[in-house]
Amino acid sequence: MVRQIVYISSSPSRDEPKEIAAILAAARRNNAAEGITGLLAFVDGSFLQVLEGEAGAVSRRFEIIRKDARHSFVIKLLDRDIPERMFPDWSMAWRACPADHPAAAEVRTIARRGEIAPGAGDAALEALIASVFRSVPA
Ligand SMILES: Cc1cc2nc3c(=O)[nH]c(=O)nc-3n(C[C@H](O)[C@H](O)[C@H](O)COP(=O)(O)O)c2cc1C
Repeated sequence: MVRQIVYISSSPSRDEPKEIAAILAAARRNNAAEGITGLLAFVDGSFLQVLEGEAGAVSRRFEIIRKDARHSFVIKLLDRDIPERMFPDWSMAWRACPADHPAAAEVRTIARRGEIAPGAGDAALEALIASVFRSVPA
């Protein structure tokens, strides 16, 4: 089993490209060393991140990430065991999703509500993540 944590957070940054490059560099270095894989997406002022790997490694890294001052309002959406990784080939994949992408409206709704719509279930979030990963150019 693989532990998977998915969260959404808010980015207050006015110097996004530089900050994101630094975040990604640290993420890829640490994650490769710790066997963590995942996706970091930037969607209209929000980060949406998937972290997956050995349970202890993922939880410890998430606790570090959630305290990072480069984002705020970190809301955990999923924390579960899954049979296999969604992003086995990525120490941290990156997608910047345009504000007019259909997924952006869903992300805005989650950010506003502070949770996935009740009853929508994990599958809806999985579909959203897959759509961002597949349809937004890297
Ligand atoms: C949105 C966001 C996502 C991040 N993702 C990761 C990550 O996947 N892995 C990671 O090691 N650090 C990530 N970080 C950075 C951590 O908060 C922290 O700065 C870093 O892990 C410290 O690593 P260091 O001790 O090697 O400098 C992220 C930060 C932000 C703001």
